Amino acid sequence: MQSQHLKTAICVNAATGKMGQQITHQIIESDKADLSAAFCRSGHPYFNKIVRGSTNLPYTNDLSAGLSMSQVVIDFSLPTVSLALIDKAIECKTPILIGTTGFSQEQFQLVEKASQQIPILWAPNTSIGVNVTISLIAKAAAQLGNQANVEIIESHHKHKVDAPSGTALKMGEAICEATHTSLRKRAVFQRHREKRQRKDDDIGFSVIRAGEIIGEHKVIFALDNEVINIEHKAQNRRCFAEGAVKAAIWLAKQKNGLYSMQDFIG
Ligand SMILES: NC(=O)c1ccc[n+]([C@@H]2O[C@H](COP(=O)([O-])OP(=O)(O)OC[C@H]3O[C@@H](n4cnc5c(N)ncnc54)[C@H](OP(=O)(O)O)[C@@H]3O)[C@@H](O)[C@H]2O)c1
Repeated sequence: MQSQHLKTAICVNAATGKMGQQITHQIIESDKADLSAAFCRSGHPYFNKIVRGSTNLPYTNDLSAGLSMSQVVIDFSLPTVSLALIDKAIECKTPILIGTTGFSQEQFQLVEKASQQIPILWAPNTSIGVNVTISLIAKAAAQLGNQANVEIIESHHKHKVDAPSGTALKMGEAICEATHTSLRKRAVFQRHREKRQRKDDDIGFSVIRAGEIIGEHKVIFALDNEVINIEHKAQNRRCFAEGAVKAAIWLAKQKNGLYSMQDFIG
């Protein structure tokens, strides 16, 4: 019988990526989790090498073996890579936390469908601070109703390929949920083609890609005589890794279903 004091066995997919490395490090440092496997591509220079800081655990591409000995898997990669991992996770009945962003609607529907078979937490941002910020934004939107013009500005490093960020979209969705409106109808992603004034209920998205900015999000609620800014800045990638590991430990004990960071932080 499993003691509740035992550490949670967590494996990490795309463990050689920027986030993958932060997360393996976070697990190795944690007194609540054990690193059970670290996956990478067989062509990667780290393949078969020992994960730094671990007790002799090599990077591997044997997903089935790694997933079977884990209580949960964490994946920050690419949508196609995450979807292939989900198929394996279903076979091994391993819950999966997905931090990957940039899913198309069709790809996300596959994630939703898979969550009938295993617990899945999908989080475009696993930082606890960002998720508290989203709660604050939803509260502001509910209290302001349609009085405010809303703009969302996000900045990320030059390597990021999807835009606007999954977090910016999530913030837009939180505002629309709180005001019973639809982001599909309100979102404005570009303004240079159309010559028109903004509609009162437009939610404008602005995107900055530069240097090594980790991740910054600002939501502006502009009223006629005052402006509210709600802002979050990630200082480093540790905030995402820390939140992901805490949420993965929680997810390992959940039933099948699709969860968000909001479910975890309550
Ligand atoms: N949820 C959050 O809080 C959060 C925070 C930051 C980033 N993200 C998202 O997490 C994802 C990864 O970000 P990152 O900054 O870590 O990117 P990254 O450094 O480019 O890492 C991507 C990882 O995916 C692996 N990969 C790429 N193609 C693959 C394939 N065909 N098969 C297997 N593995 C493959 C890469 O392997 P190689 O090393 O072999 O190329 C690498 O390990 C992005 O979607 C990003 O937007 C989410």
